Amino acid sequence: MKLLITGGGGFVGSRLARALLARGTLAGQRIERLVLTDIAPPPVDLLADARVEARTGPLLAQTEALRTEAFDGVFHLASAVSGECEADFELGLRSNLDSTRALLDALRANVGAGGKVARLVFSSSVAVFGLDPSVPLPKLVADDTLPLPQTSYGTQKLVCEHLISDYTRKGYIDGRAARLMTVTVRPGRPNGAASSFFSGIIREPLAGVESVCPVSPDVSHPMTSPARTVDGLIAVYEASREAFGGRAALNLPALNVRVSDMLDALEEVAGPKVRALVRFERDERIAGIVANWPAGATAERAARLGLHPHENFADIIRQYIADCAALPNAAETLKGMS
Ligand SMILES: NC(=O)c1ccc[n+]([C@@H]2O[C@H](COP(=O)([O-])OP(=O)(O)OC[C@H]3O[C@@H](n4cnc5c(N)ncnc54)[C@H](O)[C@@H]3O)[C@@H](O)[C@H]2O)c1
Repeated sequence: MKLLITGGGGFVGSRLARALLARGTLAGQRIERLVLTDIAPPPVDLLADARVEARTGPLLAQTEALRTEAFDGVFHLASAVSGECEADFELGLRSNLDSTRALLDALRANVGAGGKVARLVFSSSVAVFGLDPSVPLPKLVADDTLPLPQTSYGTQKLVCEHLISDYTRKGYIDGRAARLMTVTVRPGRPNGAASSFFSGIIREPLAGVESVCPVSPDVSHPMTSPARTVDGLIAVYEASREAFGGRAALNLPALNVRVSDMLDALEEVAGPKVRALVRFERDERIAGIVANWPAGATAERAARLGLHPHENFADIIRQYIADCAALPNAAETLKGMS
């Protein structure tokens, strides 16, 4: 089979690519070719695999060529992140909405003989949920909670969910949207996402660097790990339409955790000196955005697909440490623990 991952050079996309290559099959079919598209090139270990082809550049510039190229499956992950979309309205519309529509139209142009369509999994986000004065936001958002995004990014994700549902209804694709929860611990440098500090308060102290938490320790949020996210995307791809159940997006599982719980877990795993590197200094802009986010989520439909959240945040931290330990710069990223 031939697969496409948009955003295949990113945090989740590159991990998904590695997981698919390691499995070798998806939905019972052998993976012959894996095309990774992204503005950024994928990591070198992926490029070294003969099944991988990297195409670098904005997705929108590649969709014309995709109109004459058939794929069995697509994981559509390319996206500008929340902070970028707030700062640059046009960028968000172009990267997240226009690119998605052009991709869906390319897949529509490719509907094969006998009506064979590409299966597409879309990485939507918990950011589709938000606090609107007209509708109370439940403490835990469920699969059937009314999404009321309060950011441009969340709005673009929600519009794309509906487009994917409609292209599926029309028989142009077999589309499934999964709402990712906040994925921690993200390696590398802080990114433009308003949620970036959720990784920063773990990653920086582990590297021996001070981290500033811009919200109060009581703030709670639905969290998951990269590995569980990848498992979720693959399970959503492999589910039958009946098992997926309808065309509406589903929530991927999350551990609902407070900042103070995260820091307790950090202390449990890495000790009090590492925890002491986190300092609280309120940032009104970030605290204001976070105040409109759900405090937690449930994921009943995902549970029916066999997907479950982590039981504790310490496991998520341990996964990050194990990932870092396998990299050449382990000493640097885990300096705080030495
Ligand atoms: N990481 C999270 O906590 C989280 C939470 C909810 C949803 N998501 C969604 O999951 C997906 C993957 O997230 P991630 O954490 O890996 O993000 P990421 O930023 O690491 O990866 C996204 C990739 O998309 C690429 N990209 C952006 N605009 C593009 C464009 N116009 N054309 C081509 N490539 C483009 C970026 O270069 C990047 O490599 C995204 O769709 C994101 O919105 C992530």
